[in-house]
Amino acid sequence: MTWWRDAAIYQVYLRSFADGNGDGVGDIAGLESRLGYLRDLGVDALWINPWYASPMADGGYDVADYRAVDPSFGTLGEAERLIAAAHRHGLRVIVDLVPNHTSDQHPWFQEALRAGRGSPARERFHFRDGTNNWQSRFGGPAWSQVDDGQWYLHLFDSSQPDLNWDHPDVRAEFESILRFWLDRGVDGFRIDVAARLVKQVGLPDKRGLFEGVPTFEDADDEPDKDRPEVHGIYRDWRRVLGEYGPDRVFVGEIWVRDPERFAKYLRPDELHTAFNFAFLKCAWDAGALRAVIDRTLATHATVGAPATWVLSNHDVTRHVTRYGRKDSAFMKREHGVPADLALGVRRARAAALLSMALPGGVYVYQGDELGLPEVFDLPDELREDPVFRRTGGLDLGRDGCRVPLPWDGEEPPFAFGTGGSWLPQPPEWRELTAARQLGDPDSVLSLYRLALRVRRDEAALGDGGMRWLDAGPGVLAFERDPGFACVVNLTDEDIAVPEGEPLVASAPLAGGRLPADAAVWLRTAS
Ligand code: GLC
Repeated sequence: MTWWRDAAIYQVYLRSFADGNGDGVGDIAGLESRLGYLRDLGVDALWINPWYASPMADGGYDVADYRAVDPSFGTLGEAERLIAAAHRHGLRVIVDLVPNHTSDQHPWFQEALRAGRGSPARERFHFRDGTNNWQSRFGGPAWSQVDDGQWYLHLFDSSQPDLNWDHPDVRAEFESILRFWLDRGVDGFRIDVAARLVKQVGLPDKRGLFEGVPTFEDADDEPDKDRPEVHGIYRDWRRVLGEYGPDRVFVGEIWVRDPERFAKYLRPDELHTAFNFAFLKCAWDAGALRAVIDRTLATHATVGAPATWVLSNHDVTRHVTRYGRKDSAFMKREHGVPADLALGVRRARAAALLSMALPGGVYVYQGDELGLPEVFDLPDELREDPVFRRTGGLDLGRDGCRVPLPWDGEEPPFAFGTGGSWLPQPPEWRELTAARQLGDPDSVLSLYRLALRVRRDEAALGDGGMRWLDAGPGVLAFERDPGFACVVNLTDEDIAVPEGEPLVASAPLAGGRLPADAAVWLRTAS
């Protein structure tokens, strides 16, 4: 079976993972020094956020050179060595591809600025003499004006001009970029903003407009989203990938709500997998979760693709915080909403077991395995996310889920590096360092290590089928062959545990009963 159908994939937000050169920013050297930690955690692959040359106006999602590594992260040679070193540790490497837009510092955009209106260089982007009513996903208008009066489209920050995917140069360039990294041994690509590359001809106005804080829920049939022509791009790319054998993989960032439209991206000649954002957004509620799980599995079955289970990433409020809120469904980033973090951690532990037991692949965002909460009280002047600025602070942005990891010690930067950390870590994270948690069998880290090992070595979870068990209202229980059951208690009271030998539990079973907001894996008689 191909590895990606059931892989546990760890998301490395490089700027905040580990700093090898003491400048306060995570880098490739830091990542390489921690590969042993990731191997021992028990994941199968890494997805590394963009490491390309970039002015860092959007944390590297503004790429100036797709074939170079940003000096703050290292060199191309270091990236090549990292890929080889990860492979020696048994870890595959997925890199992030950003095809919707470049940086305004990219040579093509600089050439377009110089070449002026009507020039062929401008045709690689969306230059117009007027604008439409589109808003940036980061807040504010989606158009900025250049010196000669023309406007260019940017669905994100003004430093991220959208590419024109109807242009043959754009198509040829990205196939060449794919080959560049495949030739360097990467095992796959995470495709940024995968549903928005193609825009409706003529760029017509939108019907629905958001104002203030962008939500993650715009309609599917907008003129800048899920255009049918986008599938041709992925079919072309799949052919390129296929030249490198069956083991290279695409994972799409596809915020498309309609299951049928979503599944189209996962047809056998397009992308292999996509992030399950419906699961990420779902409230901590048995009925809602069961409905999402059923819909996910049914949708993926229509195209034979494996599901993925995702709880957090570098764009959303960390789930420890979300699950500690009264309303735990995620529609948009919010601040000032009270959260009971102890409750959030209990639920996050249970959710980890749920997500690892379900059929398909599972993602772990760095810091999930430490039970990190969102950080809200960062000084404004240190916030880097353009969302903060573009929404006038209505949305604090994503820096709060990107705070550098606490590795060891009693004080910041907790061995993140020797030169501080680009965002300050809360002093109370001394309780959450990886080193401290390694020594505590009851820690979140110990739970992740145990569960990932059991998932891979003992219970053979991952791809395959599952059957719901009737365990009463508020309880999610299912079994998988051979002889495995997962029970998650989302009620307010402890419940009886079905028969079986407990393999992993997210909380101690008291008198054989499963506490509220806890989960257990069981070996059952098959
Ligand atoms: C994706 C990335 C996000 C980035 C945006 C623009 O949503 O995950 O971090 O800001 O695309 O590239």
